[in-house]
Amino acid sequence: MNRTVTAVAPANIALIKYWGMLDEAGPLPANASVSMTLRNCVARCTVRLLPEDAPDEVWWHNRQGLLHRASPALADGILAHLQRLRNAARGRSAPARVPRFRVTTGNTFPTGAGIASSAAGYTALTLAVTTLLGKRPTPADLSVLACSSGSGSAARSAYGGYVRWPADPHDPAGPAAAIAPADHWLLSNVIAVVDSRPKAVTSREGHRRAPTSPFFDRRLQLLPQRTSIVEGALRERDFAALTRVVEEEAVEMHLIAMSSRPPIFYWRPATIEVLAAVRELRHDGIPACATIDAGPNVHVLTTPDHRDCVRAALDALPEVQETIVDEVGTGPFLSDMHIGDLGTSSA
Ligand code: PMV
Repeated sequence: MNRTVTAVAPANIALIKYWGMLDEAGPLPANASVSMTLRNCVARCTVRLLPEDAPDEVWWHNRQGLLHRASPALADGILAHLQRLRNAARGRSAPARVPRFRVTTGNTFPTGAGIASSAAGYTALTLAVTTLLGKRPTPADLSVLACSSGSGSAARSAYGGYVRWPADPHDPAGPAAAIAPADHWLLSNVIAVVDSRPKAVTSREGHRRAPTSPFFDRRLQLLPQRTSIVEGALRERDFAALTRVVEEEAVEMHLIAMSSRPPIFYWRPATIEVLAAVRELRHDGIPACATIDAGPNVHVLTTPDHRDCVRAALDALPEVQETIVDEVGTGPFLSDMHIGDLGTSSA
């Protein structure tokens, strides 16, 4: 049996946001969401089998290439998910032995800052552990298991291309499904990082507070029509139609956050500067539209032809610390490049 497995899984950017839960267990989303899977913003997770009497270990591989013990918050989430994955693998039969793991994980992008790091991380962890336990999960299996971590958007990172969760809008407990593969429409995403620090209020807490907004029920009424416009724009590769609703949708999700009790402000002044720059690009005839997950950083969608021009415009803003160029990607995969083999040093 293989004793070390590495999985790579992508972040995704929601075009229609999931914000609010019907039930935290599962989790069950209050609304259907649609996303684009990314290619370069990925989590890489190496999982090694340890001797049975060893405790599970969690290590963090930072963007500078250094390894250190994971923070208690990260380690607690990962240890709880390891237990879920062991239970799922065991089924009803009593285990012959309880597998123990050393998990080493890291992201190519800032963590906890509105770039779906939990979705990428839990999908990579789930794929690595289930493979190590001898299973070959389908994308649907991976989706259901990864989102049982509590990161709902992990349900979408199991697939490449453009993804909807739940696939059946009338069944919030249903799985996610791809609605189009990556090569259907090669869109770029230039991420303007204005603050790379982890957000102060988790999205889990944001989901809990969402129904306290006086505008939440109205949002749920408006979403089915907006979702079908986004799906139609994706189907027809219609950038203008996508632009008309994607920015409106992002602003509305943040309006719910800002009007929750107590309110949550993920935006920084720099976020507004980037939104203004995107409007200016459009005014100059460049196809560009902005969306923002639960953080201050802005994802600017554009076509591959206009990617460099969008990046140059964002890099020119003094408020932008870094731009990350990404595009639609093909989904998670297993890799032979284990984190310990990547020339890292321990700290
Ligand atoms: O996946 P979670 O539970 O961390 O929540 C994700 C929330 C948003 O990123 C704001 C929206 C989404 O659908 O991805």
